[in-house]
Amino acid sequence: MPPIKVLENIYWVGAVDWNVRHFHGFTYSTHRGTTYNAYLIIDKKVALVDTVQHPFAEEMIARIKEIIDPSKIDYIIANHVESDHSGAIAEILKHAPNATVVGTANCQRGLEKHYFGNWKFQTVKTGDTLNLGERTSSFLEAPMLHWPDSMFTYIEKDALLLPNDAFGQHLATSKRFDDEVDQNILMWEAAKYYANILWPFSTLVTKKIEEVQKLGLKIDMIAPSHGVIWRKDPMKIVKAYLRWASGEAKKKILIVYDTMWESTENMAKAMLEGIISEGVEAALYRIPFSDSGDIIAELLESKGLLVGSSTINNGILPTVAPFLREMEGLRPRNKLAAAFGSYGWGGGATATIEKSLESAGMELAASAMTVKWVPDKDELQKCYEYGREFAKKVK
Ligand SMILES: Cc1cc2nc3c(=O)[nH]c(=O)nc-3n(C[C@H](O)[C@H](O)[C@H](O)COP(=O)(O)O)c2cc1C
Repeated sequence: MPPIKVLENIYWVGAVDWNVRHFHGFTYSTHRGTTYNAYLIIDKKVALVDTVQHPFAEEMIARIKEIIDPSKIDYIIANHVESDHSGAIAEILKHAPNATVVGTANCQRGLEKHYFGNWKFQTVKTGDTLNLGERTSSFLEAPMLHWPDSMFTYIEKDALLLPNDAFGQHLATSKRFDDEVDQNILMWEAAKYYANILWPFSTLVTKKIEEVQKLGLKIDMIAPSHGVIWRKDPMKIVKAYLRWASGEAKKKILIVYDTMWESTENMAKAMLEGIISEGVEAALYRIPFSDSGDIIAELLESKGLLVGSSTINNGILPTVAPFLREMEGLRPRNKLAAAFGSYGWGGGATATIEKSLESAGMELAASAMTVKWVPDKDELQKCYEYGREFAKKVK
């Protein structure tokens, strides 16, 4: 794939990672691969905005060479320390030994602690600018979106925002722009990205967008560091972020559970029927057969969550624990939740689930539904009613 012209004298020179199927270790499934977006700005001064993960360094350098001799690069703007964006800085510096790396003070400290290089570094903070010739790039610190070092770069002349990970999607495609890809897939991957990475920072997301709006920056294009570039409708993703950050959700309930001998599963299915009977959308996932990254993405726009586990050794099934741990870390906003499960004698699973849901900041909208051993007809009817009552609360 050649470098792609994004705007006059601005090129995508990143890399497409078609085969990556998990990210951040194994915490995030990337069924559709991803891209590492690096952008080359040709002006009186030449700037490279972000780089790629290390194994793709040669690919990026080859793309740069199709446009310009890499030794002409004056600045490497590092919006973010994380290695999927900084992993090729050391390589490009071999070709551009005079280039200055530009980033926040946190970025400098982070890069030094990742690469132990003695790089020429220029620290910038919100409001600082870098004159490139016809263009001036300005910087906006964006701490914890999603690391302390994160920063947005803005090119006023082109009304171009380069916000690094914000507004990204893990989506490998031969297309580079939002209007060239399936909109449902695009928004699903953007939502999955938000839910799995940015959800805990929702308050900061809202504040940062408001800050940008107050600055009155004209934004015609948003070029993130993963996935496609928002050129047709950049406000579509900004509005979606504001909606997701606000916790606005559909009348929809997810039932997420595991079971040993199907008692808890039969409870879950009876609850599902009860929810559906109230006209509320619902989905049911047995955890080991499901992808937690996908469930988390679906939860983003679902109002309710029922988590079930039978009791084993006084607590939850070990398979349910990772999902609850994810909830505690991501702290989904404005969710109504409840626990359920079958037990044999002393029980214990639902209390553990409730504790997790509460520590994830969710509201327990109903007391836990438990059944001893195998649910009989009456107990299944109670589960059905439980689903109905829970559905009424999300309506
Ligand atoms: C290995 C094992 C350990 C169990 N430990 C407990 C326990 O500590 N407390 C309890 O109340 N029930 C315990 N049970 C009983 C189950 O919770 C009970 O069989 C329940 O109905 C299983 O529901 P399920 O079919 O949804 O898995 C245990 C069952 C197994 C197989």
